[in-house]
Amino acid sequence: MFDAAQIKQSLINLMKNSMHAMSTGGELTIKTGEAAAGVWVSLTDTGGGIPQEQIKRIFEPYYTTKEKGSGLGLMIVQRIVRDHDGRLELVSHGGKGTTFRIWLPQEERRQHLLETAANEA
Ligand SMILES: Nc1ncnc2c1ncn2[C@@H]1O[C@H](COP(=O)(O)OP(=O)(O)OP(=O)(O)O)[C@@H](O)[C@H]1O
Ligand SMILES: [Mg+2]
Repeated sequence: MFDAAQIKQSLINLMKNSMHAMSTGGELTIKTGEAAAGVWVSLTDTGGGIPQEQIKRIFEPYYTTKEKGSGLGLMIVQRIVRDHDGRLELVSHGGKGTTFRIWLPQEERRQHLLETAANEA
């Protein structure tokens, strides 16, 4: 049901950000799970975190704090997740690392929604 290449691109973008945030070392934890709302994959790093005042800007195109960043990585992740009817969650406590979690709707639910949309069309 998902576009594998796009989901892969999303994970790569998040991993690259985590690696940048941990340039002096750290740990990247990747977890997956399932709940009524859908399936999820989370990436948690032990980097410097994202200051509260930056959080509202990091999804903007061309917003970057890096010398050679394009500032497009997170905008692309957000677009891909939205195209899948999913949700992107962020938990960041300045100085204590960052967690991004991608939620994707369950297959049956998504199928059901598509069928409902088709019936209503
Ligand atoms: N895991 C993270 N830890 C700390 N800061 C982060 C993390 N992920 C994103 N950021 C912050 O969000 C900003 C925007 O991220 P985004 O991926 O959109 O662009 P970028 O990484 O700067 O450039 P690129 O287009 O090469 O990805 C980053 O510059 C960085 O300041
Ligand atoms: Mg990036």
